[in-house]
Amino acid sequence: MSYRETYDAYKAMIEERLSRIFSGQGLHEAIRYSLLGGGKRLRPVLAMAFCAAGGGRPEAALELGCGVELLHTYSLIHDDLPCMDNSDLRRGKPTNHKVYGETVAVLAGDALQAAAFQVVLSAPLDAVVRARAGKLLADAAGPSGMCLGQYRDTLEDGKLHTVQELTAINDTKTGALLRAACTMGVTAAGGEGPEEERRLAVARDYATDLGLAFQIRDDILDVISTAEELGKPVGSDAAQRKSTFASLLGVEECEKLVEKYTRHAKEALGRVTWQGDVSFLQELADAMVARES
Ligand code: IPE
Ligand code: IPE
Ligand code: MG
Ligand code: MG
Ligand code: MG
Repeated sequence: MSYRETYDAYKAMIEERLSRIFSGQGLHEAIRYSLLGGGKRLRPVLAMAFCAAGGGRPEAALELGCGVELLHTYSLIHDDLPCMDNSDLRRGKPTNHKVYGETVAVLAGDALQAAAFQVVLSAPLDAVVRARAGKLLADAAGPSGMCLGQYRDTLEDGKLHTVQELTAINDTKTGALLRAACTMGVTAAGGEGPEEERRLAVARDYATDLGLAFQIRDDILDVISTAEELGKPVGSDAAQRKSTFASLLGVEECEKLVEKYTRHAKEALGRVTWQGDVSFLQELADAMVARES
């Protein structure tokens, strides 16, 4: 199967699983609104691809990957709130709070975060693997991970960051969840011992570089894209006087940085022997450089 066919096959499994989690009305309906019908599903795709690279069946990481996607969706609903980025458009639709109001949007996010752990801790995997995966997700989401990155990103609007500070912010707000997805995928393959440790380290390194490339590309798209193509507002970083790589270095320099981090991500994969094919992960890194949404 080609890269695109594999991505679409993983994505179809992810969409199908996500569609079965929330079936009620009220709060469930508000959650379904943000969770279904949009999004690249990058994090669960990464979990499945790393599980396959580690010698497991990609499906073995489906529940763990969907757990990361639930947590990611919560982070987007809260990121769009008026008290954070104040965004009106997400995944091509009005944002959650625009449709359901701020109270419901806050609660939908809260509920999605808890549901993420419900899904991970109920996965049909060995109890030790489930527990490891839950810890990886909690570390990535919490006060030293995504929430810390969002804290600095939103509360320091108007402050001119150095490249080093911005790198650290992006590594927490975006890189941490990608690292969780990749390492949870390796964990789902069920290996043990020093070889497993080396694979986990490589998954972390790949995700770190991919995450930096990914967020810089996100900042570039906020400058050069259209809301129609992106499914979210453009020019919003500048409007909020947010210090981003694009505002600091300009689009051209940013493109070079994206290329550099992508190259590093791909090189990391070669530092260990895998049981499965890693060409998909190489192509995914390249596809993220050119992504338009
Ligand atoms: C958006 O993430 C937020 C960032 C970390 C830049 P994605 O670009 O993965 O958003 P979806 O899930 O495809 O909508
Ligand atoms: C958000 O970064 C990262 C999250 C943890 C949600 P951005 O604020 O740049 O993401 P978009 O552009 O709104 O998707
Ligand atoms: Mg933001
Ligand atoms: Mg935002
Ligand atoms: Mg952005």
